[in-house]
Amino acid sequence: MDGAYWKTVGPTSRHSALDPSLGHRYIAPVSNHSLPLSASTRLCAVYGFPVRHSASPAMQNAGIATLGLDWRYTAAEVRPEQLKEAINGARAMHYIGLNLTVPHKLLAMDMVDILDESSQEWGAVNTILFEGQRDDNQWRPIHEFDCAPQNIRSHGFNTDADGITQSLREDLGIEVRGESILLLGAGGAGRVAALKLAATGVKDLSIINRTTSKAEALVAEIQQRFPAVNVSVNYPSSEIDLVINATSLGLRDKDPSPLDPQAFCLKKSRAVYDMIYQPNQTPLLTAAKEAGCKYANGLGMLLHQGAKSLEIWSGQSAPLESMREALKKAINHG
Ligand code: ATR
Repeated sequence: MDGAYWKTVGPTSRHSALDPSLGHRYIAPVSNHSLPLSASTRLCAVYGFPVRHSASPAMQNAGIATLGLDWRYTAAEVRPEQLKEAINGARAMHYIGLNLTVPHKLLAMDMVDILDESSQEWGAVNTILFEGQRDDNQWRPIHEFDCAPQNIRSHGFNTDADGITQSLREDLGIEVRGESILLLGAGGAGRVAALKLAATGVKDLSIINRTTSKAEALVAEIQQRFPAVNVSVNYPSSEIDLVINATSLGLRDKDPSPLDPQAFCLKKSRAVYDMIYQPNQTPLLTAAKEAGCKYANGLGMLLHQGAKSLEIWSGQSAPLESMREALKKAINHG
C-alpha cells in the first residue's frame, strides 16, 4: 500500500490500557472496497475511548470486502457517559453491529436489550448484533431486511474468550484441556482468560497479579464456578505447559518482564503466550525464545475475536487470511 496513505494517529496498545507516553504510530487506512459507497451501504463500528489506535477498521474492512458485502466499518470515540446514547443511535440508524473496546465492555452489559450466553458467561460485551423483528415475530440479523424494520433490538455477545483459546490452539498447538498454565494478570483481560481456561478444562491454573487481592477474588470465583480446576495464587513448583501474560507490562519500551525469574524459571514451561501484540516481541517473549519455549504474541487473539464478530454479523465464515494480512499491515507500520 502506498505509504502516503498512512496517517499518523495516537498511541496504540495491545487491546486496551492506552498510555499517552507510548508515542505515535501509523495505522492503516481501510482497504479498498470493490463496491462504492452509496445510499444502500450499511455501517458497523467500534466504540472506544480512546479508539484512534484501533486496528479493527483495517481488519474488518478487509474481511467485509473479501465477503463482497456493501458494508463499511468505522471507529467512533465514544465517552462512557454517552455509550448508551451511541448504541441507541446506531440502532436507530440501522447499523449492522458494533464492537466495543475499553472502557465499554462491562458498561454495555446493562445497555443491550438481550445478552447472549457468551456475554453472560464472561460478564462483558465486545460485540453487538442489531436484529429486526419479522412479521412472524422472529428476530433476525438486520442485514436480512430490505426495509428498515419497525422493531430493532441490540443483542450482546462476547468473542474475546473464544479468541484466546483459538489463538492458543493455532499459534502454539495448546488445547488447554488437562494442561497446567501460569496466568500473569487478573485485570479485565486476565479475568476473561482465566474463566475461559477454566471452562475449557485446564487442569492446574496459577494466577499471579501485582494486586494480590484481585488474583484471590478470581481464584475464589473459579473455585466456585469450576470446582474441578486446581487453581491457586502461587507460582507453580513443577513443570507446566504454558505461561500467559495478560498484564500490560511489555507495552512500553522500558517495561520489565511481568514474570519474576526468581519465582519461576521459563525453562520449566513448554510455551509462552503474550497477549501484547505491539510491540510484537516483548521482553517476556525474548526470554521465552532464550529459554527454548514455543512462543506467540497476541495478534491471533485479536484476529479471532474480530473474525468471530464478523461471523455473528454476517452469518458467513470470516475470511481469516485477508483479515490477518490487513491486521499485520495495520500494526507493523510505525
Ligand atoms: P486490561 O483490561 O487490558 O486487562 P486492566 O484491567 O487495567 O487492563 O489490567 C491491567 C493488568 O496489568 C492488571 O493485572 C495489572 O495489575 P493490577 O491489578 O495490580 O493493577 C497489571 N499491571 C499494570 N501495570 C503493572 C505493573 N507496573 N506491574 C505489574 N502489573 C501491572
